[in-house]
Amino acid sequence: MKYQSLALPTAVKIAEIRQDNYRTKTFVLEAQLDAYPGQFVMAWLPRFDEKPFSLVNANPVTLMITNVGPFSRLMHEKQPGDRVWLRGPFGQGFQVPAAHKKVALVGGGYGVAPLYWLARTQIDQAAQVTAIIGARTAVDLLYAEHFATLPELVTCIATEDNTAGLSGRVTDALRPLLEEGVVDGIYACGPHGMLAALQKLGQQYGVPCQLSWEAYMRCGIGICGACEHEGHVLCLDGPVLK
Ligand SMILES: Cc1cc2nc3c(=O)[nH]c(=O)nc-3n(C[C@H](O)[C@H](O)[C@H](O)COP(=O)(O)OP(=O)(O)OC[C@H]3O[C@@H](n4cnc5c(N)ncnc54)[C@H](O)[C@@H]3O)c2cc1C
Ligand code: FES
Repeated sequence: MKYQSLALPTAVKIAEIRQDNYRTKTFVLEAQLDAYPGQFVMAWLPRFDEKPFSLVNANPVTLMITNVGPFSRLMHEKQPGDRVWLRGPFGQGFQVPAAHKKVALVGGGYGVAPLYWLARTQIDQAAQVTAIIGARTAVDLLYAEHFATLPELVTCIATEDNTAGLSGRVTDALRPLLEEGVVDGIYACGPHGMLAALQKLGQQYGVPCQLSWEAYMRCGIGICGACEHEGHVLCLDGPVLK
C-alpha cells in the first residue's frame, strides 16, 4: 500500500525478515511512504509500546531493529505476515547540499540504517562517497557487505578490538581523510559519544557535519517534550541536526 504519510497508527504487514547479525534483523513491510533518508517512523505494538526507528528505505518501508530490550525483543519474535502499526514519516533527515561532492557517511551500530539509503541517493548524484562503518567487534558490524556492493563507493570498516578492518574507532578512520582534504561534508548516525567526537573533528578541520541524534521519544510530533536535546525538540528539529 502506498501512503504519503500516516498521521495515525496504521496496520502494516511484515513481508520479509532478514537476519543481519546475531542480534539485528531487517524488516521489510508491505507499505510505501513519501520520505527521505534520515527521517523516522514510530512503530507501535498494541497494548505494549511505541518506539522510533530510522527508515532504511521508504519504498518499501524497511526497518533495521537491534534486539536490546523489551520492544525490540517483541519485534524479533514477529514473523512474515504479522502486523506492526506505523505513524510517520517524521523529523528532519539528511539534506546534502549540491556543493558537497565528497561526502563521508559515518555509522555506528544501527546508525548505518539511514546512511545506506543516503549512500544510494548520493551515488545517483555522482558524489564521491566514503562510508565508514564502526563497531566494537566484527560480529557487531552491520550492512558492511551491502555498502561494499554499491558501485563507486569506498567502504572503510573500523573495529575497536581489531577483529575487522582498521583497528580503532570511526574517528580514527575519518581523521586521515580530513587531513588529506578529501571530505567536504560529514553525515553520521550512531551513539552520542561517537557523534560528539565527530562534531569536534568536523570543527577542528572546518568540515560541516549533519548528525542524527537519538533521544527518548513519545509523541514524535513535538508535543510532549520527551526528546529535548540541547534546546532542540529532536522529533521535529531533528533527529538530524546541522
Ligand atoms: C530517531 C531514532 C531512530 C532510531 N532508529 C533505530 C533503528 O534504526 N534501529 C534500532 O534498533 N533502534 C533504533 N532506535 C532506538 C529504538 O527506538 C529503541 O530505543 C530500541 O529499539 C530499544 O528499545 P527497547 O524497548 O527494545 O529497549 P530499551 O528498554 O529502550 O533499551 C534497553 C537498553 O538497551 C540500550 N540500548 C538501546 N538501543 C541500543 C542499541 N542499539 N545498542 C545497545 N544498547 C542499546 C538502552 O539504553 C537500554 O539500556 C532509534 C531511536 C530514535 C530516537
Ligand atoms: S517525542 Fe514528544 S516532543 Fe519529541
